[in-house]
Amino acid sequence: MVQTPLAAPLVLRAGATIPNRLAKAAMSEVLGDKLTGGPREELIRLYERWGRSGAGLLITGNVMVDRGGMGEPGNVIVSDDRHLGQLERWATAAQAHGARLFMQINHAGRQAPRRLVPRPVAPSSVAMKGFGGMFAKPRALNEPEIEALIARFATAARVAQQAGFAGVQLHAAHGYLVSQFLSARTNLRDDAWGGDPERRSRFLLAIVRAIRVAVGPGFPIAVKLNSADFQRGGFTIEESMNVARSLEDAAVDLLEVSGGNYESPAMAGSGELPAEQRASSRDREAYFLEYARQIRGVTTMPIMLTGGMRSRAVMEAALASRAVDVVGLARPMTHAPELPARLLDGTLDAAPTVKIRSRFRLIDDALQVMWFQAQIHELGAGREPDLALGTWTAIWRGFRANMKAGKHAQQALDTGTLPKVA
Ligand SMILES: Cc1cc2nc3c(=O)[nH]c(=O)nc-3n(C[C@H](O)[C@H](O)[C@H](O)COP(=O)(O)O)c2cc1C
Repeated sequence: MVQTPLAAPLVLRAGATIPNRLAKAAMSEVLGDKLTGGPREELIRLYERWGRSGAGLLITGNVMVDRGGMGEPGNVIVSDDRHLGQLERWATAAQAHGARLFMQINHAGRQAPRRLVPRPVAPSSVAMKGFGGMFAKPRALNEPEIEALIARFATAARVAQQAGFAGVQLHAAHGYLVSQFLSARTNLRDDAWGGDPERRSRFLLAIVRAIRVAVGPGFPIAVKLNSADFQRGGFTIEESMNVARSLEDAAVDLLEVSGGNYESPAMAGSGELPAEQRASSRDREAYFLEYARQIRGVTTMPIMLTGGMRSRAVMEAALASRAVDVVGLARPMTHAPELPARLLDGTLDAAPTVKIRSRFRLIDDALQVMWFQAQIHELGAGREPDLALGTWTAIWRGFRANMKAGKHAQQALDTGTLPKVA
């Protein structure tokens, strides 16, 4: 056993306690039933395993609040309580050994693939750049639709609470719908929902308030926010600091700091990061730490930092700096699912390294998602991670799953088994 500040519990404003400072960050599992959007058995088995990982907090991969906001085939969809029974089993399995499970709730907006959502919605009609025809040009939401989506987020949070989840995390990062509202590149509105930074943040704050009304004061609400989009004309660190201040005023319990979006994938340590970070970011730990420090300068709300954190020394230093209260771990949890316990008991000093790189930088990010998702599926099947899994095999499996998913998506559209769009 080692003495480590990572073992200290954290009491959140809503009253709940996270047993230690290590969190499994959200990773899309795509283990939802493709016809109904409910959690599959593999998802429950996966969280049974992560519940024994030693992480104090487990954040689910994104759960979509609306069928029209799906990001991938196989997303779990919670837009009413039809899946309550399976959601309860998910929450129970994950929390059987003391970890707390938060449901990450999301809507993809314009980052919804055309095949799943032929007519996606967004704050404004701004098309995705650089993906060929994969994403359809979105249409701008009208006010009643915006209000309906705010209500959808609140409903999903209430269902999570009913099912026994310990909290929710609103996904306001990585270029999805809430993040599209925050960014001047994707929000060109000049009404109550856009035009200046304050109005661009109104959608996010309205959702937080609606969730609070739906769940009451004792249920933690976390928010995942970009430190910046790392794109010219996009969401900036100054705007992020202002939003953080407003979130603290809105009694948010935990702020996770990340960055980037599909067009500029800084969350994975690439994309258009600033020059000083770009050179070494792929091999550097804690690549958003400097931004967390700046956000800490304007808020006392607990901050979770995710992105590249691998060694206990770096994690402890981040806590000691007081800029960070919770360490988020994503990719290592797929191939080293006992990592938190081993960092806490001193049998490991750092996550084992795996380097998933092809010779083509452009496809590396997609390749990584496939490789790590393949490991998630091994765990969901009740097997051990497959460290020998080749990148081309992962690509093939991802491709095959995608082909099947296209068929399922069409079937689901034809048979109307998925919940209706808000
Ligand atoms: C396969 C995969 C799926 C992901 N899905 C999500 C998601 O659903 N929601 C989210 O907020 N972040 C998602 N992320 C991003 C991670 O939460 C995290 O921000 C990123 O991987 C950097 O952390 P890491 O260096 O510890 O992996 C995903 C990452 C991977 C690799």
